Amino acid sequence: MLITTAFTALLAASAATAQLTPAKRYGLLKDVRPELGFANYSPAQKDLVAQQVQAMFQIYSHEYTKIKDIHVDAQAAIAKARKNASSLSLKDFNYEMASIFLSLRDFHTNYEIGGAHSCYGFVTPFKFNFVQSPDIANDPRVVVEALTVDPNILALTKDQVSKVQVGDSLEKIDGLTFRQHWIKTQAATGGANQYGGYRAALGLLSSINGKLYPAPAKDAVTFEFHRPGSKTNYSVTVPWVTVGKRACLADAPGGGSANLGAPKFHGPNLTKEKKKGPVGVKPSSPLDGMKLFGDSNNDLIWKPTDSSIINWTIYKHGGANLGVIQLTAFEDDTHPDGLGPAAEVFQNLLLNELAETDSVVIDVRDNGGGIISFADVLPQLFVPNFVPGKARAIRTENNRILMVVDSADGPTWAASYNQSHPGDLYTVPEAFSTVEQDNAIGQLYLRPVGVFTDANCYSSCDMFSASMQDFGVTVFGEDGTTGAGGANVVEHRSFLQAAAPTIFKPLPYQDVDATGAVRLGAPDFRVAWRETLRVNKNAGVVIEDRGVLTDVVVRPVVADFLPINNSTGKSTQFDKIAAVLKKAGTSTGKAGLFFQSPLALQYSTTGSAVSFPYSSQQIKKLELRDSTGKVVGTASPSPFYRRTTGVLKASQKSTALGYFAYNIRGYGANGKQVLTTKRVVTVTPGLDKYVKVAAGQTFNYAGTGAYSAVYNSNSPAVNGWQVSKTGVAIVGNGIQYADNTDTDLRVFANVPKGGAKLAVTFKFDTELNYDFFTISVRSVTAGAPVTPVQLARETGKGSVDQTFDLPGGNIDISFHFVSDGGVDFSGVTISKIAIKA
Ligand SMILES: *[C@@H]1O[C@H](CO)[C@@H](O)[C@H](O)[C@H]1NC(C)=O
Ligand SMILES: *[C@@H]1O[C@H](CO)[C@@H](O)[C@H](O)[C@H]1NC(C)=O
Ligand SMILES: *[C@@H]1O[C@H](CO)[C@@H](O)[C@H](O)[C@H]1NC(C)=O
Ligand SMILES: *[C@@H]1O[C@H](CO)[C@@H](O)[C@H](O)[C@H]1NC(C)=O
Ligand SMILES: *[C@@H]1O[C@H](CO)[C@@H](O)[C@H](O)[C@H]1NC(C)=O
Ligand SMILES: *[C@@H]1O[C@H](CO)[C@@H](O)[C@H](O)[C@H]1NC(C)=O
Ligand SMILES: *[C@@H]1O[C@H](CO)[C@@H](O)[C@H](O)[C@H]1NC(C)=O
Repeated sequence: MLITTAFTALLAASAATAQLTPAKRYGLLKDVRPELGFANYSPAQKDLVAQQVQAMFQIYSHEYTKIKDIHVDAQAAIAKARKNASSLSLKDFNYEMASIFLSLRDFHTNYEIGGAHSCYGFVTPFKFNFVQSPDIANDPRVVVEALTVDPNILALTKDQVSKVQVGDSLEKIDGLTFRQHWIKTQAATGGANQYGGYRAALGLLSSINGKLYPAPAKDAVTFEFHRPGSKTNYSVTVPWVTVGKRACLADAPGGGSANLGAPKFHGPNLTKEKKKGPVGVKPSSPLDGMKLFGDSNNDLIWKPTDSSIINWTIYKHGGANLGVIQLTAFEDDTHPDGLGPAAEVFQNLLLNELAETDSVVIDVRDNGGGIISFADVLPQLFVPNFVPGKARAIRTENNRILMVVDSADGPTWAASYNQSHPGDLYTVPEAFSTVEQDNAIGQLYLRPVGVFTDANCYSSCDMFSASMQDFGVTVFGEDGTTGAGGANVVEHRSFLQAAAPTIFKPLPYQDVDATGAVRLGAPDFRVAWRETLRVNKNAGVVIEDRGVLTDVVVRPVVADFLPINNSTGKSTQFDKIAAVLKKAGTSTGKAGLFFQSPLALQYSTTGSAVSFPYSSQQIKKLELRDSTGKVVGTASPSPFYRRTTGVLKASQKSTALGYFAYNIRGYGANGKQVLTTKRVVTVTPGLDKYVKVAAGQTFNYAGTGAYSAVYNSNSPAVNGWQVSKTGVAIVGNGIQYADNTDTDLRVFANVPKGGAKLAVTFKFDTELNYDFFTISVRSVTAGAPVTPVQLARETGKGSVDQTFDLPGGNIDISFHFVSDGGVDFSGVTISKIAIKA
C-alpha cells in the first residue's frame, strides 16, 4: 500500500546514462532557487487539490487528538485555506498546503509538493546529536556527531567544514540557542511531541526534504560552535547545498530549466506485487539511500545478516555479554514483499549467535517504521501471551463510504465502523493481526531484554516499543519519549483513489506509462487513517503525540563519537544498558534461564510418538500441551540448575495427517511459569501410503485419505480447503475466504522414475497482488530436504486448465492458498487434479 522511493528502480533506470550523467545534481541554493519549480495548476486544479485534501482530512484519524494535544484543527484549517486557494500563486499555494500539513506535527500526514521542488534535498555538511546534560527537556546540549563524507557536498563547503571538529558543541543557530530555534520553528518542523520536535529540528539542520518542506528562506545558515577546552566560541556560515535527483527532475511537472528532457516515468510501478499488510512509516525523501555523513558509534563492529535491516553485535566491554540487534526499519524495500527474510533472521540470531548472551537489547534508534504486522510478531519471542495493539478510525461519512460501502480493508474494518453508533467520534477498535498469528512461535529468549529507542523511532517502531513496554520490557531511550507516530498511513494515489473512487479523484500530473510506472515529482498526499491504542499495562492509551515514555534515559557523551578505536569496543550507552539488564536478570531470576528445542518437527505416520528434544537451564518442570490445552506429556530436567538435555514426549503416537500445534510450558524452581513457546509438528504419510501411479495409468484425485491431507497453518480448518468426496477442493465457504488464511492441500504420490504429468483445472478470484494460490511439487528423498519447484502462482481472477511436468519418484504436490488481512474475494476452486504417468 505504500510507495517509497523506488531507489533500486531508479538506479536501474539511470544505469544506461550513468557513465555520462551522474544521478544527482549538486548546487548552491542561491543559484538553484529559480529552478525550484511547481506543478503548473490552473485555478480549477488548485481548487481540486485543496478539495481532495479536505476530503482526505475527513478520514484523518488524529483530528480530535490534534485538537486536544496541540490545538490544531486540520478540517477547519483546510476549509479556511480552500476559500482562497485558487487565487494563490503556484508557490504560495504549495507552501500554504505544506504548512497546513506540517502544522499537524504528524509525519504520517504529508503533502507532497508537485514539481521540481520535490526532487531536491537541502543539506549542510554537519550531522548533530544530543549529548548527556542535566536537563534534556529544557536545556538540550547539541554536538557535531559527524561531518559530511559526500565528496560533492564537501567540495561546495570545504572552507567551512575544515574549521569544525566532531565533538564541537553547537551553541547558536542564526543567533538562537537550539531550544529557542525549536520554539520558533516548531509549527513548521513536524515532530509530534517535544522530543520528536527536537529530533526533527535537529535533523533539519543537516538535511531538508524538498518534497515535504519549503526550501530554506535564507541561502545560508550561521552556526556558532564551541570547541571543548577553548576559551572562545567560533562561527561558521555554511551555504545550503541542493541535491537534485536527475530522474525526478526529468519527470517532474514544472521543472524549469532543470527539466532535462529525458524520458519520463522513472517512478515506482503501481502494478507490481504489493507489500504485506498495513504500513506505518515515515515519508521518503529525495535524499534516501545517500550516505551523507560518516558513521557514528564506530567503536562497535556491527555484523551484517541476510536481511538488510538487521545488523548485530555482542557488546563485551567491561565484562558485559550483551547481545545487540540493530533493527533499522520494519520494512525492507530490497524485497518485493517489503520484508524478505527479516523475521527468520531475527529468530535465528536469538537461537544461535545470541543464545548464550546474558541479555539482549534491540536497538531501534532512528527506525522510522514500516510494516505493522512485522512489529507485531516480534514481542512473542521475548514475552508470554502477547496481545497486539488496536486501532480505530474517526466516524465520518467518508469513512463510512471507504470502510463499509467500498469495504476498503475488508469485513473486519466494515464491522469496526458498523458497530459504532451515530454520535461516536470513533469506530470500534480492531487489531491489525490476530493473537494467534502474533503468538505462533512464542518465547525464544528467556533472559532480560530491552529496547533502545530515540525520538526518531516512529510509527511501527513506536508500536513495537509500546508493545514491548506494555508486556514488561524495559525501554531505554536517548530521549524522554519515542517519536509518537501512532497510526497506519495510506496514500491518496495508490490506496484511496483505488479504494473509494467516488470520493478520491486523481490529482493533476498523475499519469502512468503503459507498464504502470509513475512520474516522479508528481503531487500526492498521505494520511494517518487508523489511530493505534495500547494494550495490557497501558490499555487504551493513544500512541500519537504521547509516544512511549522512556524507562531509562541513556544519552551518549562526546567520547562516544570520537574516532574509531577497535581495541576498546566501548560505548558508555551500552555499558549502562548492560549494567541495568544484568541487575534485572538477578532480581527477576531470569539470568541463566535457557530453553531450546527444534522449532519444527516432521514425522511420517510410520514414525514413533511425538517427542521434543530440548536443552534447558533453571527450568524445573516442562509441560507439553496439545492444541486443546490438554497436558499430553511432562519432563523434569535434571539437574535443573545447570545446562541439561532431555526429551519431552507426548503420551500418544500421531496417526492423523496434518499440522499439529503444541505448547511447551516451563516452570522455575519456585513453580512460577518462565516459558511458553509453540511448536508445530507436521505429520505426513509413510512412503508405503503414497498413491502409486504406474506407467500408463492415470490417477484421478477423489478426496483426502491416507495419501492426502489439508495442512492449515495458524488458521482454523473451516477457513482452509474443504475437499469433497469427488475431489473438488474449495477454500472456506467458496463465497468469501477469511483474512489471514494459510491452507495447503498436499497429495503424496509415487510415480515412475522418468516423471509424470499433473493436469489441474481451477478457478481463482483473489485480491490482486495480496492473496495468492500456488501449486508446487517437491521430491521426497531420504537425504537433505529438497526445495519445492513452483508450477503455478496466481493472483486476481481467472480460470486455468493446464498440465505440468512432475519429477519422478516419491513426490509431495502442494496446492497452497494464502490471504492477508483486509479485502477477501471468493477464493479458489479446484475441480480436477489428475496424475498421468
Ligand atoms: C483571500 O484573499 C483576499 C485577497 O486576495 C484577502 O483579502 C483575504 O484576506 C484572503 N482571505 C483569506 C482567508 O486568506
Ligand atoms: C558560547 O556561546 C554560548 C551561547 O551563547 C555562551 O553561553 C557561552 O558563554 C559562549 N562561550 C564563550 C567562551 O564565549
Ligand atoms: C510493472 O509490473 C508489472 C507487473 O509485475 C510488469 O509487467 C511491468 O513490466 C512493470 N513495469 C516496470 C516499469 O517495471
Ligand atoms: C550493517 O553492517 C554492514 C557491514 O558492517 C554495514 O555495511 C552496514 O552499513 C550496516 N548497516 C547498518 C544499518 O548499520
Ligand atoms: C455493515 O452495515 C451495512 C449496512 O449498514 C451492511 O450492508 C454490511 O453488511 C455490514 N457489514 C459488516 C461487516 O458488518
Ligand atoms: C577497526 O576495524 C575495522 C573492521 O575490522 C577495520 O576496517 C578498521 O580499519 C579498524 N580501525 C582501526 C582504527 O583499527
Ligand atoms: C585505543 O584504546 C586503547 C585501550 O584503551 C588505548 O591504549 C589507546 O591509546 C587507544 N587508541 C586511540 C587511538 O585512541
